[in-house]
Amino acid sequence: MADDKVKDKKNTKYNEIKEFYNNWNVESYPEYFKVLMDLEEKLIIDIIKNLKEYDTIKRGNGIILDCGCGFGSFYTLTKDLNTIYLDFSINLLKKFKNNYNLKSNKICGDILNLPFKDNSFDLIFCINVLEHVIDYKGALREMKRVLKKEGVLIVIVVNGESFIKESIFNEFRIYHRALSLNDINVEGFEIIEYNSFYFIPPILKILPTSLLRYFINNYYLRIEDYLRNLFKNKGQFLYVILKKIN
Ligand SMILES: C[S@@+](CC[C@H](N)C(=O)[O-])C[C@H]1O[C@@H](n2cnc3c(N)ncnc32)[C@H](O)[C@@H]1O
Repeated sequence: MADDKVKDKKNTKYNEIKEFYNNWNVESYPEYFKVLMDLEEKLIIDIIKNLKEYDTIKRGNGIILDCGCGFGSFYTLTKDLNTIYLDFSINLLKKFKNNYNLKSNKICGDILNLPFKDNSFDLIFCINVLEHVIDYKGALREMKRVLKKEGVLIVIVVNGESFIKESIFNEFRIYHRALSLNDINVEGFEIIEYNSFYFIPPILKILPTSLLRYFINNYYLRIEDYLRNLFKNKGQFLYVILKKIN
């Protein structure tokens, strides 16, 4: 009986998250939000572009899964590669299709029950997804299942060890739980690299948007690396690069 209640609660939360993303409309958010999202995206693209694992898989024509792809913020990294895009929100997939004229390779599915055979992919992106998944360990196990041996998983999450505790995007009023390196460390994976990034205090959103953008482009981006070294693992986002070992 108690188990049924827990299950019901989880299902309700799951449906709420799905509903939220099906109606997710970033355009309706304040301007500052877009500036901060652009910054996060830029930092992520730079991190991934500089990874030797990404380069190797790209050159080797490996098969990639963008798991929880949303409306395709990271399409630029995979558009010329062998990629499948998966998300549980049909509306975000439609938006993705319209934004980029994406004709195929998109699948509406759940990260906890991926519709792929074992050992299918060389590389999986899972960017800002696991913090919204109640059973994130189950999701990690599922991604491990569909990865080939020696395949690489790139996980990016809201960082549980961040020294800035205020919610980054206050408009993001949906279940999310910041995660730490220990949470990501599941059996069968080896962690090959990790660090945190993005050290913008949310108070800066009070600046006029043009000033915020100017500050980011002319000052902040120059010191991001320095801050990563200075405040190891205390940034607001965490990236973890994992290799499937068995
Ligand atoms: C914050 S958005 C990130 C989207 C994209 N990866 C990005 O970084 O722009 C979270 C995404 O995870 C998807 N998502 C959440 N839970 C999921 C689940 N159980 N299965 C598949 N997708 C899920 C949402 O629909 C949404 O697109």
